[in-house]
Amino acid sequence: MPNPLPLRVAPSILAADFSRLGEAVRGIETATDILHVDVMDGHFVPNISIGPPVVASVRRQTKLFLDCHLMISEPAKYLPAFQEAGADGCTVHVEVGGTADLIAQMRSLGLAPGLAVSPDTPFDDVAPFLSDIDLVLFMTVHPGFGGQSFMEEVLPKVERARALHDSGSHGAQIQVDGGIDVATAPRAAAAGAHLFVAGTAVFGQPDPAAAVHRIREAAEAAA
Ligand code: DX5
Ligand code: ZN
Repeated sequence: MPNPLPLRVAPSILAADFSRLGEAVRGIETATDILHVDVMDGHFVPNISIGPPVVASVRRQTKLFLDCHLMISEPAKYLPAFQEAGADGCTVHVEVGGTADLIAQMRSLGLAPGLAVSPDTPFDDVAPFLSDIDLVLFMTVHPGFGGQSFMEEVLPKVERARALHDSGSHGAQIQVDGGIDVATAPRAAAAGAHLFVAGTAVFGQPDPAAAVHRIREAAEAAA
């Protein structure tokens, strides 16, 4: 079956030099249309990254779609701040609970709603919500840190989500995040992913825009 959605790479700014974020973002602007912003609270995950003030700063630098991946325990409390900062979409973790209310809150704020699924979380936990969201994110590493190794064992969940997508039961884009590079993106693409988050494999490279193109081309060749 032909791929109904174009494959895209979402560079994760977690791997960029935070002291030169504007430059980093402008460097990949022509290579993609979406930027992945990793938000960690030191509670849902054992690491702290950035929050709404950085999103607001990035917003002033770019027109790229800003997708904020909220690895935080209390997203309901902070979603309005991300919306005010200029986020276009937010992805909350299904493990946090209260999922139906969070989706409704994101919709009412005008945020494209996404749901993230950690590697140990079963597919059945996210399945009931697929037709209510714009994006489903299958973590291919344990959330919390960049630069980890891709977990192949997550791919059966991607395959199940894609089969349901292709049968018309939902329209959510299928995203993978963690350890994505030119070697692993094709494996995720073959399983059915549409959107590939890559941090180290983009901003850790001498030419990040060229790296985005290479990852997308590798994925397209395998889809
Ligand atoms: C991990 C984050 C990822 C991370 C990916 O918790 O959600 O988005 O930035 O980084 P790499 O591509 O280096 O695995
Ligand atoms: Zn992420």
